[in-house]
Amino acid sequence: MSKLSIAALWIAVMVTGAAAQSYPSRPITMVVPFAAGGPVDTVARILSEPMRASLGQSIIVENTTGAAGSIAVGRVARAAADGYTLSIGHWSTHVVNGAIYTLQYDLLRDFEPIALLPSNPMIVVSKNGVPAKDLAELIAWLKANEGRVSVGTAGAGSGSHIAGVYFQRAVGARFQFVPYRGTAPALQDLVAGQIDLIVDQASNSVQHVRDGKIRGYAVTAARRLASAPNIPTVDEGGLPGLHMGIWYGLWAPKGTPKDIIVKLNGAVMRALADGGVRQRFGELGLEIPPVEQQTPEALGALQKAEIEKWWPLIKAANIKGE
Ligand code: MLT
Repeated sequence: MSKLSIAALWIAVMVTGAAAQSYPSRPITMVVPFAAGGPVDTVARILSEPMRASLGQSIIVENTTGAAGSIAVGRVARAAADGYTLSIGHWSTHVVNGAIYTLQYDLLRDFEPIALLPSNPMIVVSKNGVPAKDLAELIAWLKANEGRVSVGTAGAGSGSHIAGVYFQRAVGARFQFVPYRGTAPALQDLVAGQIDLIVDQASNSVQHVRDGKIRGYAVTAARRLASAPNIPTVDEGGLPGLHMGIWYGLWAPKGTPKDIIVKLNGAVMRALADGGVRQRFGELGLEIPPVEQQTPEALGALQKAEIEKWWPLIKAANIKGE
């Protein structure tokens, strides 16, 4: 290497080091891949205030919707690797979409994991006008109305869509899937009686079930939710083993300096330890991962293992993007 290129490399290292030291010196944008008011948006907004307090800079939550979150994730893949544009997402945006869409980015190679975030199971929910009182009656009603029942999703490949496809297969009756830009607008339509059903993340629907605005039939987990103990599990309701959960994570573009990742991870871990944050997540049915799993390494390892597990299953199930 010539003296000139060694000097250029040294200057680049010094500039990057100085940027990491003064980081963050301006607001950080957290890109949410679905509509405002929905599950990812809620997690982002709960975390953004304590993260602002520990980083000393505001976190701007930006909703970039479309193609089950892949437009938003692509925006972050192309952003500068300086820690000012982050991707919050979950199992479907950062695992499933790679098996369904032809993405212009690589879910593993184009991102630096920051932290594993909470997870939640799904709940099978319907509008109040559906006559079924429990899961067995709902299954009978779905079969009797084969092909006519409208099921809201956040787009082909979203958590609600994949869970809906697995629920459809377990029930043995075809649904009509209705795509939205997130499950927040889908839920609004469910409450208004415009659609029949959603297999929704617990955090989105549980409050509406408690308020009697919609019906909740079953939680797709081995245990009932502490925040809604009246809703049976799928095992109790007659679909044993139909367990589906959505875990969340936070990522930065590939090449973001290690010191910045460490600062961001520290801010997330402090937020997840905060009493108010823990209580809010608990009320929504979101489970915080143990401290040793809140690391970039744990998120990277989980995402890789989930890609290896789910891509063959999703491809074999022939679930297509739009
Ligand atoms: C959302 O935030 O709207 C959801 O996470 C969408 C989904 O994957 O079902």
